[in-house]
Amino acid sequence: MLSSPPLSLYIHLPWCVAKCPYCDFNSHALKGELPEERYVDALLADLEVDLPRVWGRPVVSVFLGGGTPSLFSGVAIDRLLAGVRARLQLAPNAEITMEANPGTVEHDRFEAYRAAGVNRISLGVQTFDSDKLKILGRIHSGAEAEKAIEAVKAAGFERFNLDLMWALPEQSVEQAVDDVERALGFGPRHLSHYQLTLEPNTVFAKHPPPLPDEDSMIAMQEACAERLDRAGLHAYEISAWAEPGQESIHNLNYWRFGDYLGIGAGAHAKLTLPAEERIIRTRRKSHPRPYLKALEDGSFVAEEKSISESELAFEYFLNRFRLDEPVPLAEFEDRTGLHSGALADRMGRALELGLVEATDPAFERSTVLQRTERGQRYLNDLQALFL
Ligand SMILES: C[S@@+](CC[C@H](N)C(=O)[O-])C[C@H]1O[C@@H](n2cnc3c(N)ncnc32)[C@H](O)[C@@H]1O
Ligand code: SF4
Repeated sequence: MLSSPPLSLYIHLPWCVAKCPYCDFNSHALKGELPEERYVDALLADLEVDLPRVWGRPVVSVFLGGGTPSLFSGVAIDRLLAGVRARLQLAPNAEITMEANPGTVEHDRFEAYRAAGVNRISLGVQTFDSDKLKILGRIHSGAEAEKAIEAVKAAGFERFNLDLMWALPEQSVEQAVDDVERALGFGPRHLSHYQLTLEPNTVFAKHPPPLPDEDSMIAMQEACAERLDRAGLHAYEISAWAEPGQESIHNLNYWRFGDYLGIGAGAHAKLTLPAEERIIRTRRKSHPRPYLKALEDGSFVAEEKSISESELAFEYFLNRFRLDEPVPLAEFEDRTGLHSGALADRMGRALELGLVEATDPAFERSTVLQRTERGQRYLNDLQALFL
């Protein structure tokens, strides 16, 4: 039987000062003036679309992602969050995260965001090496990244995340570790450590930069992990490190196959509808122009579909095994509406291959799975078992 999991809200703000050559997010270089008032109007009208489907459910987290949300003024973010609160019931300690680019912010802005209700900042540092930042097409230097972190702290944000990327063009192991050391110097309680990937349809995919070789990448990952561990951060997800208790509520809900509303250009949503015995995914119109135009007739949604039974198990485990935590099969059953028994052979195979451990080999509702270290190393193989 399906039951409603925790509910989050994702809000996409699609503009950036410039498009980074490695980025395949739905983000667009801003030409001309930022239409922030109209966009906030559109977001609030968009939110109305799915409201009847989540009536009465508290929202545990809000994530303002992009693009570069910090292009928006404090006034605009304040109106947006006030509008959200007027339409949805936020849980008492709801986590409200906003992504920020160090090249777009100054001290006053962070104070305004905090006053608007944002209680967590995720800052896209990437690296402190100014030469590498230039190669990455970033609009800020290492010194500006440091200044931005100081500004986040000075504005009183106790919870903030720093995004770092590693395996950068011509990066040495020492340089990758140096980035981690410098980030740790600011005392972050959460750090995202992403391996640079060459995504299709990006400038980097077309003109690949010279990336470190396989051996250096392995050495980098191990050396950085050791340093992060020593600083008291643990990898609760493949790329996410946090002090115990400082994990991102929003990301955890996503990886645990929770529900999320998604508003804004190109935003995705996943909603469980127990009364209809189905789970749906929706996607908003991707390009900001047609999205803004939808303000006239409310046609924000580009696509809506139910997740089929055959996709459900794969999607659940795809996300779930990214996390380094036990997987109670009761949760699997409640969140997918499927019976664990139907997957016993696949789970048995994962057990045989040493990719998971299980409290018992019956794979019933009471069974709890745990990804092993081997399962983490061969995550793709583990996920593929549920395809
Ligand atoms: C939407 S961006 C964050 C906020 C803001 N737009 C910025 O870049 O400062 C999310 C993060 O994903 C990471 N990222 C983006 N593209 C990536 C890629 N191709 N490989 C690895 N990490 C990537 C970056 O660390 C980036 O900060
Ligand atoms: S600033 Fe962030 S979202 Fe914008 S293009 Fe660069 S990485 Fe992508």
